[in-house]
Amino acid sequence: MKNRILTGDRVTGKLHLGHYVGSLKNRVELQHQYETYLLLADVQALTTHFENPELIKENLRQVALDYLAAGIDPEKSTIFVQSLIPEIAELTAYYSMFVTVNSLKHNPTIKAEARARGNSEMNYGFLGYPISQTADITFCKATLVPVGEDQIPHIEQTRKIVRRFNQLYKPILVEPTALVGEVPRLVGLDGNNKMSKSMGNALVLDSTKDEVNEKIKKAKTDPSRIHKNDPGNPEICPIYAYHQAFNKEQSNEIFEGCKKGQIGCMECKQKIAGSINDLLEPMRDKRNQYQNNPKRVDEILMSGTERARQIAKETMLEVREAMGLNYFS
Ligand code: TRP
Repeated sequence: MKNRILTGDRVTGKLHLGHYVGSLKNRVELQHQYETYLLLADVQALTTHFENPELIKENLRQVALDYLAAGIDPEKSTIFVQSLIPEIAELTAYYSMFVTVNSLKHNPTIKAEARARGNSEMNYGFLGYPISQTADITFCKATLVPVGEDQIPHIEQTRKIVRRFNQLYKPILVEPTALVGEVPRLVGLDGNNKMSKSMGNALVLDSTKDEVNEKIKKAKTDPSRIHKNDPGNPEICPIYAYHQAFNKEQSNEIFEGCKKGQIGCMECKQKIAGSINDLLEPMRDKRNQYQNNPKRVDEILMSGTERARQIAKETMLEVREAMGLNYFS
């Protein structure tokens, strides 16, 4: 069995540093070893943003640019559009029989997301998106799913559905494994929460140098450090967390310097802004190249979607045969 990666992102906004360290970095590295499929999850984005499809249309391209800028090679990886693979919707319908409403309501990520949205009445599509995500992962029989750690309950759900299907009908589906990045939960600029666009504490990959400098300057630090010589608590400082993620070589030195009150927050912030800009600078160049050639980006998405669709059709035939739904063949 060949190893295959499938993963993706909701196209509700540009990707940020948290996405990069949690998952995107892994994908860029692994695309050389694994056949890689990257899904632009527009249907899943609709579960929360159905009233604003314009936003989804715009961000579909922006997320594709984030991938390409970060080093996803369109010759190696297949980038495709979820809603253009009708087999995903078809599989979702079949898998939905194996999942109780109650288990979806108790999915910790669904719960957390519902809470973040003010616990307003959940629509059926949103509650069921883990089932649709199972269809995303299984249509191409992915073995490995690089994701942020909040997605682990969904991979568990996927594994359960796969086992149930295989045992009920015929063992044709593959149980995937989640792969979480080195820094699974990058803290936001406010230091209180994980980095997330909706919390307003994110630094997007498509930030200019000035935007990085500005946002880092305003980021929270250890509140007990008022004077430069005050001993600090790097464990609770988002800036230190960024040093660990983006300036690993110096992070021990920074830790000690902060603890002993030898390095001030200003200096510490300037250093990390520099490291982040070093990471983003080549991405800016690449993004520019693609942004100036929107036809090329559309071509990449269209040919990727065609490739993914071919695989989906093959899996669908197998699934219908396994379930005995191949009435006339
Ligand atoms: N739920 C994922 C997120 O919010 C996006 C996603 C959709 C996904 N389909 C997927 C991730 C399939 C991995 C595999 O980031």
